[in-house]
Amino acid sequence: MTGTNNKLADLVREVTELCQPDRIHWCEGSDDEYRLMLRMMIHAGTAIHLNPEKRPHSIFVRSDPADVARVEDSTYICSKRKEDAGPTNNWADPQEMKANLRQLFSGSMRGRTMYVIPYSMGPTGSPIAKIGVEMTDSPYVVANMHIMTRVGTEVLEVLGRDGDFVTGLHSVGAPLDGKMADAPWPCNAEHKYICHFPDTREIWSFGSGYGGNALLGKKCHALRIASVQARDEGWMAEHMLVLKITSPEGEVKYLTGAFPSACGKTNLAMLIPTIAGWKVETVGDDIAWMKFGPDGRLYAINPEAGFFGVAPGTSMKSNLNAILTASKHSIFTNCAITTEGDVWWEGMTDEEPPELTDWLRRPWDPKCGRVAAHPNARFTTPARQCPVIAPEWEDPNGVPIDAILFGGRRGSVVPLVTEAFDWQHGTFLGAITSSETTAAAAGKVGQLRRDPMAMLPFCGYHMGDYFAHWLRIGVSANPAKLPKIYYVNWFRKDANGKFLWPGFGDNSRVLKWICERTRGTAAAIDTPIGRLPGPGSLDLSGIELAPGALDELLRVDRDDWMAEVPLIRDHFQRFGDRLPAALKSEVDRLEERLKNAEG
Ligand code: OXD
Ligand code: MN
Repeated sequence: MTGTNNKLADLVREVTELCQPDRIHWCEGSDDEYRLMLRMMIHAGTAIHLNPEKRPHSIFVRSDPADVARVEDSTYICSKRKEDAGPTNNWADPQEMKANLRQLFSGSMRGRTMYVIPYSMGPTGSPIAKIGVEMTDSPYVVANMHIMTRVGTEVLEVLGRDGDFVTGLHSVGAPLDGKMADAPWPCNAEHKYICHFPDTREIWSFGSGYGGNALLGKKCHALRIASVQARDEGWMAEHMLVLKITSPEGEVKYLTGAFPSACGKTNLAMLIPTIAGWKVETVGDDIAWMKFGPDGRLYAINPEAGFFGVAPGTSMKSNLNAILTASKHSIFTNCAITTEGDVWWEGMTDEEPPELTDWLRRPWDPKCGRVAAHPNARFTTPARQCPVIAPEWEDPNGVPIDAILFGGRRGSVVPLVTEAFDWQHGTFLGAITSSETTAAAAGKVGQLRRDPMAMLPFCGYHMGDYFAHWLRIGVSANPAKLPKIYYVNWFRKDANGKFLWPGFGDNSRVLKWICERTRGTAAAIDTPIGRLPGPGSLDLSGIELAPGALDELLRVDRDDWMAEVPLIRDHFQRFGDRLPAALKSEVDRLEERLKNAEG
């Protein structure tokens, strides 16, 4: 195997010298290899089998309680120049960080096997796909990468002798020196570093075995490094779901959507429409890579092959398709366990089970006053198992995008749906994306956080330059062929704090309006903030909204929006002189339109 690719052979030699693993395992991507990883985790006490009658071919893993989520504070963009990482990323000098990391990685794999995982983000061989190689000492990572990416020999074949790839080096940072028994979830309590070297397309991750910190194909490669590649090569790497929607007449549209965490991205990607005859199918639930096709339209692929979904809150009601997808061949992390050997999490069922074992191995009952599953408990499950996966989800050329949605969780001010006047205005709407924080993330609940294009934790360079890249994409294209851009908010509340909009499957009503707008059939009215549904143009057949709810959902309050303008200016201030002038002028224009609007 080592002879296949020149750069890879040298790299594996170098990394072996540095990390000193006992063995090297070149991943071929087979089912046998996947099963071997599961057996090893079970043997090591990392995982248990779930009851095969309840959840066939599935395992349950509990992580160390100190290693449960992405560690944004320990995530670095090590660009050559500090100013290129921008104000929203931690930065460290690449040479200094490498020197520091070399010490940590030195001997870090002693007593362990180093797995070399060649993987493709995107269908192997697709012109939009990219190859990476992750070297890791964690079988949990190997098993998850098997589900989340395309792994193995077929990737090495595409790579050939001289092909290039993104380098990923990962260690849990817990060498097994001599006789020590291994921990069920080895990690490093003292040091965690998730470092990106965008200039050399490298990722070095130390100390954590969890999710986005360790499965390097996902956030590290497909967003942070890929966003830099996309900037350099004229395409887009975005934190977006991709869905296909078909009208009763059989007309197909493809939509992407960027939403910050806990705003229902996976639910929207797998939505079951409540309007007759409409169908939604899934292409991806987290990341979209978009490139212009020969016809001048933007085409998107889902670079991933699985879903790494937040379990709590996922139910037959909120997302039946996710529940069905994860009904077999899946990995569950930090959920609770039922007496029958199946998983459970908050919100899964209307009634809580009378007894459980919680994610920390303690007995649990509904009165104990604790949650049973960690709020960031996850399922890792193959996309191909999704009952509504679009047949073309692996089309190497991607799917042509008709509309891009931005959105967040706002209890007030922001209407149900707004159409941007044009691409530049849409870029502005993306750049001011805001959401109220939820209990799922650390920090205060209900605070307004700006999360431009939902990329705040995932942009691998200066966000001011990232906005400029969005604007350049718009200028370079034929405007008639660009996707239309929308801002949606499912979370507006009435004076009593009750949600005005039913959400979930009824969001299809908004998607229908968007589809009809892209076709030019639905009515819209101009407001100072953008175009909103014209009277009667939202299909509300079959639902009863509370009296006045629709007016409130679509209300653009001049005073509220005037109060929003200085907040937007403050937010933009952060990007200093790298904020594109076009976005500054969009705030001025918004203010002007609000001033000129009738009070
Ligand atoms: C994710 C995230 O896990 O955005 O997808 O945090
Ligand atoms: Mn995500």
